[in-house]
Amino acid sequence: MKRIAILTSGGDSPGMNAVIRAAVRYAIYYDMEIYGIYRGFEGLIDCEFEKMDRRSVADIMQHGGTKLRTARSERFMTPEGMERAARNLETFKINDLIVVGGNGSLTGANILSQKYGINIIGIPGTIDNDLAYTDYTIGFDTALNTVLDAITRIRDTSSAHERTTVIEVMGRYCGDIALYAGLTGGAECVLVPEFETDLNDICQKIMEGVHAGKLHSIIIRAEGYPVSSTDLVQQIIDRTGRDVKLAVLSYLQRGGSPTYKDRMFATECGVKAIELIRDGYKNKAIGERHGEVIEFDLADALKEEREFRYDIYKAVDILSK
Ligand code: F6P
Repeated sequence: MKRIAILTSGGDSPGMNAVIRAAVRYAIYYDMEIYGIYRGFEGLIDCEFEKMDRRSVADIMQHGGTKLRTARSERFMTPEGMERAARNLETFKINDLIVVGGNGSLTGANILSQKYGINIIGIPGTIDNDLAYTDYTIGFDTALNTVLDAITRIRDTSSAHERTTVIEVMGRYCGDIALYAGLTGGAECVLVPEFETDLNDICQKIMEGVHAGKLHSIIIRAEGYPVSSTDLVQQIIDRTGRDVKLAVLSYLQRGGSPTYKDRMFATECGVKAIELIRDGYKNKAIGERHGEVIEFDLADALKEEREFRYDIYKAVDILSK
């Protein structure tokens, strides 16, 4: 009987549980033995393995977070840590490992496959949408909806007080949450790590809005933007004399029940991972391109470079004038 394992790694994302559920139940359907590894690569090093059955994944799909828990593992990136991880898999006679995580997690897993010959099937699980090879990552949609809900609420109170509000969202290296939520939330400006915006342009946009009779303005700042949120607020106050407040959404945007889109994509990824393993495919990254869930060569997928959506960035500005 084939024995495989699954882990979730890096920042959790809504939909990870749907992947685990689909992978466990499909693996059992195809007569495979499947182990859940707790706390990502940390649990792989510390041998926190648990054999899963159909009931182990009951009632989890609707919850955010991850049943297998997660961690950011520095030990895994050391030669000793990776060696221990590989030896534990060898002891359990596991050669196929499904890794659900973002850029850093899939990159680490790819090294494990190259150094120790472990077959890795990577699944993109991160709210950041920072993996270039796929149009979409699991959790992004739920996070966007959470941010949109926050923008709507903040807009009400900003209008009532005739304020400008800077809303800080997640995204250390990738501004997609800010960009997409900014466009669909009607923000006046979006500040992302990929692109530096002139402070004069931001202030001018705010004042043009005031003169046009707008009651509020919303500036969305991704956490990786080079000017800090508090500095930005102060600089806008100094230049415009407006009442400016800061709302930091932080971990709020990483939790919550996954949306239909996240559950669907996550489920398809879990199913596909098992089918790839059953059919003998090696070292694949699963992703979505033009609405289709397909597999890519893992190493090649990780080499792809993200293209910043300047069209969306421009649309934010034009549509909010
Ligand atoms: O999950 C990705 C992410 O949310 C980034 O946007 C953020 O910078 C980071 O995780 C912070 O997560 P943690 O504090 O849990 O390491």
